[in-house]
Amino acid sequence: MGKEFPKDFLWGGATAANQLEGAYQEGGKGLSLPDVLPGGKERMDVVNSPDFDFKVHEDKYFYPNHIGIDHYHHFKEDIALFAEMGFKCYRFSIAWSRIFPNGDEEQPNEAGLKFYDEMIDECIKHHIEPVVTISHYELPLNLITKYGSWKSKKLIEFFERYAQVVLNRYHDRVKYWMTFNEINSAAHFPIMSQGLTNANGGADKKNIYQAWHNQFVASSKAVKIGHEIDPNLQIGCMILYATTYSYDSNPVNQMAALKANQENNFFCADVQVRGHYPAYTKSLLAKYNIKPEDIDYTQEELDLLAKYPVDYIGFSYYMSTVEEVTRNDLNSSKGNLIGGVTNPFLKSSDWGWQIDPEGLRIALNELSDRYQKPLFIVENGLGAFDKPDDNHYVADDYRIDYLREHIKAISEAIDDGADVMGYTPWGCIDLVSASTGEMSKRYGFIYVDEDDHCEGTFKRYKKQSFDWYKKVIASNGADLD
Ligand code: BG6
Repeated sequence: MGKEFPKDFLWGGATAANQLEGAYQEGGKGLSLPDVLPGGKERMDVVNSPDFDFKVHEDKYFYPNHIGIDHYHHFKEDIALFAEMGFKCYRFSIAWSRIFPNGDEEQPNEAGLKFYDEMIDECIKHHIEPVVTISHYELPLNLITKYGSWKSKKLIEFFERYAQVVLNRYHDRVKYWMTFNEINSAAHFPIMSQGLTNANGGADKKNIYQAWHNQFVASSKAVKIGHEIDPNLQIGCMILYATTYSYDSNPVNQMAALKANQENNFFCADVQVRGHYPAYTKSLLAKYNIKPEDIDYTQEELDLLAKYPVDYIGFSYYMSTVEEVTRNDLNSSKGNLIGGVTNPFLKSSDWGWQIDPEGLRIALNELSDRYQKPLFIVENGLGAFDKPDDNHYVADDYRIDYLREHIKAISEAIDDGADVMGYTPWGCIDLVSASTGEMSKRYGFIYVDEDDHCEGTFKRYKKQSFDWYKKVIASNGADLD
């Protein structure tokens, strides 16, 4: 038996509305960005083509997010399974397009609000603390096509209204919130968190920095609203963190790693946690020929950022990345749409994501040293091809190995001094992949009988990892065997 985790550590799992709910036109829901993303490995190529038109083309493509795992109709069964594993918390997102179907209405959609009332009540019934992401890769489509997405300041107003509605409605039952999922992912793929692609300005970095500024302001407004309702609410940011190494001791590569860290890992959190733009902002903008005055911002907005920073740092961790800028004979690793050079010390997942538990310990130390705020690992996990036997049982010992090593790394980081609130492995029940729209990229403790075309019985089956994780939680992290 190993060491127990801190008392009240939040063990759980994480999902996002658009990747599992389905029912994309039920309960008054409007169309959202993922509803126009086709399934399959070519998803990002289609989205990045200059003629991508943000429309559904059923004659050409299949849209797995329309169906998901039909969680909309199975959520009680799914939450009961989470409870059976002993989840202390469950991270899910609210679909903005269920609450404001077009994003710009004055009044919310009551049917959407009721759906999340039921979901939250179901969690509470099972003594599971809900952890809510307000915006997880799921913009109402109309905000993209009519207003140009997050590069428009109009979106601040719409987000504020949305945040006001959900915080008011659920604050009595939901203490933990996050504003934007992987806000910094726009450094790599601006489509998911900012609704920007080559077809609507995503190729121009100025738009991305403008969109970030608008999102920072929107996030601070949510913190303000939340704390005015109840100062005990905990409202975090959520960043994608990929620990970044220099390939070798060449100072040039070390500097490249430092700069990549600033740009890819820290920039958004620096603003959201510290409440002001970091000193390197000007040089970062200059890299893209942007001057600070090219960004539309006001002193009032900067004051808001300073006054309402986030309470904690939520982050996803799947992999590390390597910087090498002097050679071009090295293989590149394409994991999670993030480039970098292949790390010869690491193995990769079925999708080429490099597996690095020690990198999580490093991430926790780096974030802890930099911000001195509580840290919440709200995504981590292994996307793999699972092969069920005739009884639909998946012996996913490879997933157990992955999770065990990452949990050990968390325990070590806690010993190092990091203040870690909890751990919610991604896709605790199989769901549609964000980057490729595949069902066959599975992360769950629970197998959902459904293929890449959303055909199957939709029955849920416990994998080997289900009982293992149950034991981990029951022992508060002491029993990882
Ligand atoms: C994170 C996202 O990037 O990684 C999730 O927040 C996503 O939405 C997860 O599903 C895993 O990525 P993928 O592409 O394997 O689904």
